[in-house]
Amino acid sequence: MDLIPQPRRTRTEGGTFELGAGTRLEVGRGAEPTARWLRGVLGPATGLDFPAGAGGERGSTVRLTVDPALGREAYRLTVGPDTLRLTGGDAAGVFWAAQTLRQLMDPAAFRRAPVRRDRTWTVPVCDIEDRPRFHWRGFMLDVARHFMPKDGVLRHLDLMAAHKLNVLHLHLTDDQGWRPEITRYPRLTEVGAWRHRTKVGLRESPLWDERPHGGYYTQDDLREIVAYAEDRHITVVPEIDIPGHSQAAIAAYPELGNADVVDTAALPVLPHWGVNPNVLAPAEATLRFYENVLAELLDIFPGTFFHIGGDECPKEQWRASPAAQARIAELGVADEDALQSALIRHFDRWLADRGRRLIGWDEILEGGLAEGAAVSSWQGYAGGIAAARAGHDVVMCPQGQVYLDWRQADGPDEPVPIAHVRTLEDVYRFEPVPAELTAAEAEHVIGTQANVWTEVLDSPRAVDYAVYPRLVALAEVAWSHLPAPAERDWSGFEARMRAHYARLDALGVEYRPPGGPLPWQRRPGVLGRPLDGPPPIV
Ligand code: ACM
Repeated sequence: MDLIPQPRRTRTEGGTFELGAGTRLEVGRGAEPTARWLRGVLGPATGLDFPAGAGGERGSTVRLTVDPALGREAYRLTVGPDTLRLTGGDAAGVFWAAQTLRQLMDPAAFRRAPVRRDRTWTVPVCDIEDRPRFHWRGFMLDVARHFMPKDGVLRHLDLMAAHKLNVLHLHLTDDQGWRPEITRYPRLTEVGAWRHRTKVGLRESPLWDERPHGGYYTQDDLREIVAYAEDRHITVVPEIDIPGHSQAAIAAYPELGNADVVDTAALPVLPHWGVNPNVLAPAEATLRFYENVLAELLDIFPGTFFHIGGDECPKEQWRASPAAQARIAELGVADEDALQSALIRHFDRWLADRGRRLIGWDEILEGGLAEGAAVSSWQGYAGGIAAARAGHDVVMCPQGQVYLDWRQADGPDEPVPIAHVRTLEDVYRFEPVPAELTAAEAEHVIGTQANVWTEVLDSPRAVDYAVYPRLVALAEVAWSHLPAPAERDWSGFEARMRAHYARLDALGVEYRPPGGPLPWQRRPGVLGRPLDGPPPIV
């Protein structure tokens, strides 16, 4: 049946269920939104109407119901010759069952209009029981380095849903761009959303594109993204990166920077890449500014977690700044690392007071982790292990395993060759729970996600190439109960992928083909430099 991610249990019996003009949807309480979604995708793809009610004499029935006994996000899909049952443990479970149903049909079920109107649609008679390994199955999209127009974000939500991924982490701000509209501070998008030109390739590349780049999401755009995600049982986790990666905000409001050591009024939205010394001033006024920013965003993003970044904050300006040093003395903290820790703790308390939880990159462990904070473990597994042992929740996303901007092969044909080679098989063999953890500590690994940084991914097409098919492997790692990496059935996954490529083609995904990039997907190698040696494991 070539299902991806692989369900927990499947049984086939021979025979088929036929979807036709007489097929009706019988919808139980709690399953209505999935019925609406199913009509919305299968209607256009098949040309069928799927009227409500029981099929009876007139035709077959698709029955959607909720049975809480199955558990969170779990589902059962039972296909007989006349009746097809989608039963979810909750509304999300019904939705994931519907995603499986779509994969049980011909790949043309993923198109938006029929290619032929005279064909029949069948589903094999089968019985599937399924539930996810993790409840955080994520994808982080960097929309700061290169803007992804709203339509592209909605498309990625559809693609995530097709793979049963349920967390979209949006990296909304960075040195090179500020993307969410904040009504109280209009210059964040008037100024911070635009840069005059962009480095083409990595930092050492000599090339510039010599044209402006930018864009932003209005608050209505963000509300639409959140609602669209909710309809697909996906939570959007917004990230406002502080106190590093903040030059776009400083370009808009120079008082946010360390104005006693640099001329912050002269800082532009950064046009190139790398870890940047121009970080936020650790002042009370900065805290108030970001509280006001977060307050507007909390109103838009209803999820429990709010990501405050915390990664790659060089401390040299704080060391040189009399104001930052005075702040260290005033707070009675030991040094610059402890100052960053105090800043993160401030927002941890601020978010907790509002019923939310802070999540940050693993640097937030330096100088002591705020109580209740969760960690995105990106610098290998070590941060995640330390956090889990200290009783903090962890999302495993080590760069050596699941950074999808890293190159997919050796050789001159790969577009901008970033870092080390990470193949589809490497991602398939990624294990989110380190063997060092005890069972109780491992409970703190609440899930995993793949991250895609877009310094060199300058268009939605380039993002497709980097993300697919590797995100498909991550989705299976996150959902399916796979054995240890060495025992995973890679050739079985490859065989299922052959069927899955036809689905991605029908969806219009411009993935990296198994044989290597298509001519338009190649980019000259002068734009970057791969790293030598084997990729890091920890
Ligand atoms: C990161 O890659 N700086 C989180």
